[in-house]
Amino acid sequence: MASDKKTMQSEHPIDARYRAWSPESSQLSKRACEVFPGGDTRASAHYAPYPLTIQRGEGCYLYDVDGHQILDFMNNFTSLIHGHGNARVVDAVSKQAVIGTAYAAPSQNQIELAELIVARVGSIDQLRFCSSGTEATLMAIRCARAFTAKQKIMKMEGGYHGSYELAEVSLIPVPEFRGELERPNSLPVDGSFPDSVLQDTIVCPYNEPELAKQLIEENADTLAAVIIEPLLGSMGMIPANKRFLETLRETTEKNGVVLIFDEVISLRLSGGGAQEIYGIKPDLTCMGKIIGGGLPVGSVGGKRELMQVFNPTNPERVFHASTFSGNALTMAAGLAAMTLYTPSEAERLNRLGDMLRRGFDQALQQSGIRGHATGLGSLVNLHLTDKPLHDSRDAMEGMLGAGHIGRLLHLCMLQRGVMSASRLMYCISTPMTETEINIAITALSESLSELRPYIETERPGLLI
Ligand SMILES: Cc1ncc(COP(=O)(O)O)c(C=O)c1O
Repeated sequence: MASDKKTMQSEHPIDARYRAWSPESSQLSKRACEVFPGGDTRASAHYAPYPLTIQRGEGCYLYDVDGHQILDFMNNFTSLIHGHGNARVVDAVSKQAVIGTAYAAPSQNQIELAELIVARVGSIDQLRFCSSGTEATLMAIRCARAFTAKQKIMKMEGGYHGSYELAEVSLIPVPEFRGELERPNSLPVDGSFPDSVLQDTIVCPYNEPELAKQLIEENADTLAAVIIEPLLGSMGMIPANKRFLETLRETTEKNGVVLIFDEVISLRLSGGGAQEIYGIKPDLTCMGKIIGGGLPVGSVGGKRELMQVFNPTNPERVFHASTFSGNALTMAAGLAAMTLYTPSEAERLNRLGDMLRRGFDQALQQSGIRGHATGLGSLVNLHLTDKPLHDSRDAMEGMLGAGHIGRLLHLCMLQRGVMSASRLMYCISTPMTETEINIAITALSESLSELRPYIETERPGLLI
């Protein structure tokens, strides 16, 4: 009890207010701590002092156990393109659940969803479904290794491709350990990384065409694939510049290296994903999130000759199993969701994203606090720095400079009924209109006013 009191006393006033505002979530978090390490069942959705426990969702709103209505700009990390409980998706799922959720046999809705994706994404001739984006990037890497008979993989510094070691190498480019920009070190994120993974993963500086070209050419004999997210999501939605992607395309092609676009997040940006916007065709594309209509999903697709690596009749095939791959329930949800998410809906959401970025930038300027919003289309990220962001090193600098103010801003926004990812990533869903965008902009202005006195004493460098 005494130590409890001490914790409460040393707590930041904004944390204390959050606790008082969400007593039921606080209680449930204590219960959760008994059965989950740290009180949560995935690290990415956790934030301090504890996350809100959600009771239900409807459209673009969530309702927590304390009865708050919260505008959901998180959308389960960009996956719920139609928000919660879309009637057409619910209907498709309900009908499918009655007749079976998974068959371990082909079903018609698998073919229909695959046909829809193949028709929209220009670089995809064939695809495989799986159960997560993590599995999609893993299978893409195995495909590239089998096809090229080479082992090494190149990924971007700060890039995230799922929850396994290779996909996380140098996810957090810690300034003391990351090395020179020209030749970044392959850094583990935690103690689970085998040395072999670090040795087999080359880290490429993001948005540096000449450096990337040089690294690919130097490693051409052993390099199976380059994997890149056209919009660096985990480091705060930093779009790739076109010349960088073009250089990757040209250099990989010349050197017999497979180019993998991880469009797990960015597919939502147009019918054909970010690759359509940039006008670049990768060899393989990884997808996930929106194509499952809110249920767990992943997919890897690409050129027919590469995808034949997975053909079960191929004597040298890569064995791709996975119990829930292409399960009928996910396929039903995905087909309904993707049919509704037309290219013109993607454009409408992108315009709302532009409006949100502009509004956030203005709110920051008016508050006299350094910051700006990055992203592309319906994907938006707030940064508490006014320096333009070119790569993950810039993003790290911004985060380190802002200290804990970003975390407090997230809590202030939540208490005004606006939820983003704790790293201040916002994404738009189809139930949203200009009304919801304006609500978020107003919440930011108010949150910045509330934070200003703390910034003055705790982080004065953030004031303009
Ligand atoms: C770019 C990217 N790739 C892959 C993944 C992994 O997808 P999943 O969480 O479905 O395994 C994510 C997840 O956020 C992601 O953002």
